[in-house]
Amino acid sequence: MSDDPSEPEVKRGAFAKKKGEVILREHEYDGIQEFDQKLPNWWLFTFYIAIVWFVAYWVIYYHTDAYRTDSQKITEMMETIQTEKKAALAEALASLTDKALIEEWATDPAKVSAGETTYMQTCTACHGTGLDAKMGDIPLSGRPLNDGEWHYGKAPTEIFKMINNGTPEGGAGYNGVPMIAKGGGMLTTQQVAELTAFLIAKNPDDFAGATFDDQGMLIE
Ligand code: HEC
Repeated sequence: MSDDPSEPEVKRGAFAKKKGEVILREHEYDGIQEFDQKLPNWWLFTFYIAIVWFVAYWVIYYHTDAYRTDSQKITEMMETIQTEKKAALAEALASLTDKALIEEWATDPAKVSAGETTYMQTCTACHGTGLDAKMGDIPLSGRPLNDGEWHYGKAPTEIFKMINNGTPEGGAGYNGVPMIAKGGGMLTTQQVAELTAFLIAKNPDDFAGATFDDQGMLIE
């Protein structure tokens, strides 16, 4: 403590009650003493605002739906995309008939060759470049696609569904192995239809002389 008269007088007390009052707290521990002065109002104001802000934020964040987290927003966007994709697929399927796939898609060289390109990129690991599900003499995990057998239906719309969705739910798979949707590739509806056209074009005997009902669906 100094004797300088310009320094404020230091009093001992429990705590400061007035602005500008300098209090030395009554307690003393191991020679350590503690000052106490009234905090400036601007400081107290921001402190109280912070507490109010915390409570409001906590209530809004955890107890209302007003604030959506990034992960919620992403989930919602993904759901919207899924819904749009389903709608696009339903629309495409409505115009995709067995007749259209056999007579239009599989006879269009541009579509068949686009299907072949996708096949070579996405399907050969399991079905082989020769569609025989072999690599040399080694059997691959997929079913042969040139053996005249279409396990999940020979109708092109069935083949389309098989490629698009993979092994149907509850299907046993092949040697216990199911096929995953689109062979695990990111394929558009257009690409799946082109793949179907490619498979039809590669198996002409299976689809020669096909007859269709009024809806353009294969009569087996
Ligand atoms: C990771 C391996 C794998 C890939 C990649 C794969 N498949 Fe398959 N595929 C299979 C298996 C396994 C089956 C047999 C599933 C079953 O019987 O349930 C199968 C079955 C099929 C069938 C039904 C064949 C039949 O005889 O009934 C078709 C059609 C088919 N795949 C087309 C494709 C096309 C087109 C692609 C490329 C987009 C593709 N697959 C990519 C593993 C694969």
